[in-house]
Amino acid sequence: MSVSRLFSTDIYSASLVDSRGFDDLNSDLADMAAMLANDDEAGVKWCNENGYDGYTSYSSLDDLTRRATCFRDLGRLVTKHAGDFASQLEMDTAGRRIVMDSMWVNVLRHGGRHPAHIHPHSVLSGTYYVSVPRGSASIRFEDPRLGLMMAAPPPIPNCRLDRQRFVNLEPKVGDLLLWESWLRHEVPVHKARTVRISVSFNFRLT
Ligand code: NI
Repeated sequence: MSVSRLFSTDIYSASLVDSRGFDDLNSDLADMAAMLANDDEAGVKWCNENGYDGYTSYSSLDDLTRRATCFRDLGRLVTKHAGDFASQLEMDTAGRRIVMDSMWVNVLRHGGRHPAHIHPHSVLSGTYYVSVPRGSASIRFEDPRLGLMMAAPPPIPNCRLDRQRFVNLEPKVGDLLLWESWLRHEVPVHKARTVRISVSFNFRLT
């Protein structure tokens, strides 16, 4: 007999810690995130109106690669990884290039969370982790077939990772995660006292 495994869901993971100039880059990103959280009035207003506990520039400044050198440098690094991921996925890009079309920053406060969502109109999405204090929220991915399962029994506790319905990953400082934009994900409650800072991005084909 044999069992075949079909329809995989891939999560790309890399650490940027060994990249040249990493320490300076990461501390510049943390500084810029703090500055934006302080100065971006439109973004702060949006967060207040939409119940985001902390700050995100998602609705106000999502073109960060054009606004500061550190974001531009991060964008270049991440775009290389996105190209590698697209190759590994054996994605038929039909001769088009994979390009980052938005980048925004997230500063999550104690008690904050980010409900489950997908990133429509994008090909790949991902997050880079700038500051991850002990006790930080993870990122939780959901089996994309969940809505079709109806009477399917749940897997046994502690089953293999690729059989679980939800998978929590616990990124460290300098980690980059990428996934296909249709994959639903959420950030559970952030329990650390200090903020968790991340930078997120979307890619499209051009
Ligand atoms: Ni997201």
